[in-house]
Amino acid sequence: MTGPLKRPMMEKSPQILNRRRQKRSWVTIFGSVAGVAILGLTGFRGLPTPAQHWVSHSGCKSQDSPYGSFPQENDPFHFLPCTDASRPPPLDDPTPQQTWAALFDPNPSHWSWGSNSRGIYLCGYLDLPLDYHNASDTRIVRIAVTKFQVAGLPLKNDSDITPTSYKSKRTLIIEPGGPGGSGTSYLWDTAEEMTKRFSDGQLDALGWDPRGVNVSLPSAACYPQDAHRDRWSLLALRYREEAPRAQLEMMDAMNNATFFACQQRLGDFGRFVSTAVVARDLDEIRKALGEEEVTGYFVSYGTGIGQTYVNMFPDRAGRLILDGTEYVRDHRLLGGFGWTSLDNATDAWHDGFLGECINAGPEACALAQPISGQDGPVTLEQLEKRMTQLLSSLQTRPQSAYTESGGPSLITYSALVENILYPAMYRPANWPSIAQLLYDLEAGNATLAANQLDLSWSSHSSHPTYPHTPSSSELELLVICSDSYDAPIPDGLTWWDELWANMTAQSWMAGNSRFFAVFPCRHYNTYWDAPSEVYRGDLNNTLKTPVLLIASPYDPATPLRNGRRLLGEMGSNARLIVHHGYGHSSRRDPSDCTDRVVKAYIKDGVLPHEQETDCYANRRPYVDSAGDESV
Ligand SMILES: *[C@@H]1O[C@H](CO)[C@@H](O)[C@H](O)[C@H]1NC(C)=O
Ligand SMILES: *[C@@H]1O[C@H](CO)[C@@H](O)[C@H](O)[C@H]1NC(C)=O
Ligand SMILES: *[C@@H]1O[C@H](CO)[C@@H](O)[C@H](O)[C@H]1NC(C)=O
Ligand SMILES: *[C@@H]1O[C@H](CO)[C@@H](O)[C@H](O)[C@H]1NC(C)=O
Ligand SMILES: *[C@@H]1O[C@H](CO)[C@@H](O)[C@H](O)[C@H]1NC(C)=O
Ligand SMILES: *[C@@H]1O[C@H](CO)[C@@H](O)[C@H](O)[C@H]1NC(C)=O
Ligand SMILES: *[C@@H]1O[C@H](CO)[C@@H](O)[C@H](O)[C@H]1NC(C)=O
Ligand SMILES: *[C@@H]1O[C@H](CO)[C@@H](O)[C@H](O)[C@H]1NC(C)=O
Repeated sequence: MTGPLKRPMMEKSPQILNRRRQKRSWVTIFGSVAGVAILGLTGFRGLPTPAQHWVSHSGCKSQDSPYGSFPQENDPFHFLPCTDASRPPPLDDPTPQQTWAALFDPNPSHWSWGSNSRGIYLCGYLDLPLDYHNASDTRIVRIAVTKFQVAGLPLKNDSDITPTSYKSKRTLIIEPGGPGGSGTSYLWDTAEEMTKRFSDGQLDALGWDPRGVNVSLPSAACYPQDAHRDRWSLLALRYREEAPRAQLEMMDAMNNATFFACQQRLGDFGRFVSTAVVARDLDEIRKALGEEEVTGYFVSYGTGIGQTYVNMFPDRAGRLILDGTEYVRDHRLLGGFGWTSLDNATDAWHDGFLGECINAGPEACALAQPISGQDGPVTLEQLEKRMTQLLSSLQTRPQSAYTESGGPSLITYSALVENILYPAMYRPANWPSIAQLLYDLEAGNATLAANQLDLSWSSHSSHPTYPHTPSSSELELLVICSDSYDAPIPDGLTWWDELWANMTAQSWMAGNSRFFAVFPCRHYNTYWDAPSEVYRGDLNNTLKTPVLLIASPYDPATPLRNGRRLLGEMGSNARLIVHHGYGHSSRRDPSDCTDRVVKAYIKDGVLPHEQETDCYANRRPYVDSAGDESV
């Protein structure tokens, strides 16, 4: 697929995931290791099975801190206090544990402590089987894990504590979705907020990069560098409204080329990334934590991992929140990841972005200002008409633009919808600035729009160690396509062309973007045999603990309809909060009511009696202070 495209079901956009980069770059020191990540794939065959036993690293110079030495004995995660260097060792490292232990920096002032608590960030990894169903396949995946331990670390001289006594009894495992979202990045961005929101700061939080993602190894990057992906994505990023049928051929040929490259670079890895396999990894994380059940907060596509997990391991279902709920059964259908998630991005645009703008008035929303030649207050009808005109004029001819950082630039219809408008539906806090951007654009000033588009590119190109670390963008496609691998695929492009037409007709806002995420599946079976496992069972197994679902009527990626369908199947094994707010998942437009219910559930195990609970957002978009725009 194309570089700047959003990962559709992800909780946050890539540029925002990267916000923390400067503070916490895995790659700064290990830039040169990136080459090994690719080489590592050659050495990726025939590696030793995950070491089940602790290998002493007494051969290494063992350094001590007031908190003792790390990693501690018998720690399955090999946790070190995180520093910029804590990136899991390459797969072809013959002595990864020694390499890792040598990264321990004994100076506590170099460690990452919580911002206003004694909590500490711990970095580790877990070696897991590549194939859970073939004991003679000894290859592994190396999963990156980061934990925020709220109690901090015990001092070495504190004699009456055991090494694990600072671990909270249960750990809040968090998952940002995607497929392809980095759980370690998500943890850096949200851990302190999460533990406060769900447990008054009592529970540790843990995030992991799912197999193929970010710093987990191998990394599902099918281009040698992000610049190569960007180069070709320009051809592919053209919406149906702009490009005729020839575009379908172009994208299809590019998708084939991409999967061919994935197969060349990653071999059969594409067979081992399905959601069911990720659910098994999650169970290994649970075991490594030494906990009986999974406690967690899973968002967006993460809710698909959660639904799959609790139905594969019903006795391990703990207090699990699935926020921005999809119905994972849909992903078994060809294109189902796309066409079942289309409503309600256009409702969010019409009722939310535009409608609330009119309600808020010109003081709070630039687009509510009359344009020249118009009298009186702007009506919703007028505004919608103006926007339709703006969009269709861009379809006819893109707007030329210029930015100091990027030079010459174009505002195309496709780029505007893909990288600015659709993502804006995820984040109501951004609406005032997007409204200003559109108001300027309408008046012929493309500066703000061009600057915003620049951001969506620079998430690749401004990387500090660019060009060494290609991002794992192709993982998304491999997951989506393995989950639907056995759906019959019609010959030729006619069916796909119809699907594209249907999806864009149903939603001009989301239809193209979603189509691009499923169209590559036409080629999955050409390059990979059946996935090692997919989950095809029912979703109504009797769970040890019912799960708590959250869904919003205006969610542009995971509409309420899907949450209700899931609830219908799960029955008494789930409750649903209908979160009446804008944006994707309940974090984007918070509600005290939602927060009360989720805290009672995670902290005290209390569930609402009713199957559905209605909760309303605290704030009005545009008018009330929006809080942190990016989180
Ligand atoms: C199991 O793994 C072995 C060793 O890699 C391989 O030769 C064999 O084909 C695999 N079997 C299946 C069913 O994938
Ligand atoms: C333990 O060490 C810390 C500093 O390293 C010191 O402040 C504290 O007093 C010591 N506690 C005991 C019980 O020795
Ligand atoms: C990968 O993870 C590191 C550390 O968690 C983070 O700094 C970086 O932004 C992540 N990259 C992506 C593409 O998410
Ligand atoms: C797919 O790509 C491969 C590698 O470039 C090429 O050999 C093959 O002909 C392509 N197939 C189609 C259907 O385009
Ligand atoms: C266009 O908008 C930018 C950003 O708001 C502003 O700095 C610039 O002066 C505007 N240009 C013109 C010609 O109005
Ligand atoms: C497209 O929509 C039409 C009309 O609803 C339907 O008959 C057809 O099956 C759809 N085709 C695809 C590929 O979704
Ligand atoms: C799940 O639903 C199916 C029908 O879809 C039903 O046959 C089955 O008994 C249900 N299982 C449980 C555990 O309720
Ligand atoms: C969302 O989609 C559903 C199903 O298509 C529809 O009934 C509903 O009116 C839409 N809008 C909202 C705000 O719920």
